[in-house]
Amino acid sequence: MDVSLIDALVILAHPLAGMAAAYFLYKQWSGIKSVRRKSNTFGMSPEQKEEIRNKHQIMGKKAPSIVAFVILLAIAAEIYRGIAMDVPLTELVSLHGLLGALLLVATISMSRTGRSMTSSKPQDYHKAPQRNIHSKIGGAMMWLLTSIVFLGFLRLLEVLG
Ligand code: HEM
Ligand code: HEM
Repeated sequence: MDVSLIDALVILAHPLAGMAAAYFLYKQWSGIKSVRRKSNTFGMSPEQKEEIRNKHQIMGKKAPSIVAFVILLAIAAEIYRGIAMDVPLTELVSLHGLLGALLLVATISMSRTGRSMTSSKPQDYHKAPQRNIHSKIGGAMMWLLTSIVFLGFLRLLEVLG
């Protein structure tokens, strides 16, 4: 298959945005975990913790749109490859894509549980009923993310190969 410059740009937009989104989601997770870890020891002042919590909430609300945008870029690449490059439909779906859709569902539920947690005072976050599920899905997301990025590289080799 001959790959022109335009083909390459359309195909590469999604992997690049995907890597940026993966880094963003990892930061979203590790940032708030650092507040938890240092909560009982020296290091962070209450103001610093408050700042990280605020940032976590503001960025977290943007997470679903970021993941949705990455998927839109993938769909644009699929349409382009399907029409302009005559790739059959069966070669347009993959486990990577399926897990990507699952990640969107997980991100939306993080945003929902996170929002309802913030209806209580910061001191009471750890007692909020949504806390456990927010923490569990958050952890599962990091494994999901690792597989998606790994499979994404394989998918790129497959698509370009
Ligand atoms: C947040 C992270 C990501 C999400 C949610 C995501 C999601 C998706 C979805 C839904 C598809 C379309 C279905 C399919 O082709 O099976 C897709 C395709 C693809 N993804 Fe990702 N992806 C992500 C990150 C990445 C990364 C980091 C790479 C590469 C390094 C990558 C490489 C690809 C490639 C090459 C395709 C095929 C596109 C085409 O048909 O032209 N993705 N992705
Ligand atoms: C993709 C998005 C998100 C991820 C990956 C994420 C991840 C996490 C993780 C790992 C924790 C720590 C839980 C633990 O103690 O183990 C946490 C706590 C928390 N998250 Fe999120 N979250 C996201 C979105 C949101 C959103 C949108 C909000 C609110 C608008 C939110 C509000 C909170 C609050 C209030 C806490 C408790 C903080 C504390 O204990 O001090 N999160 N989040």
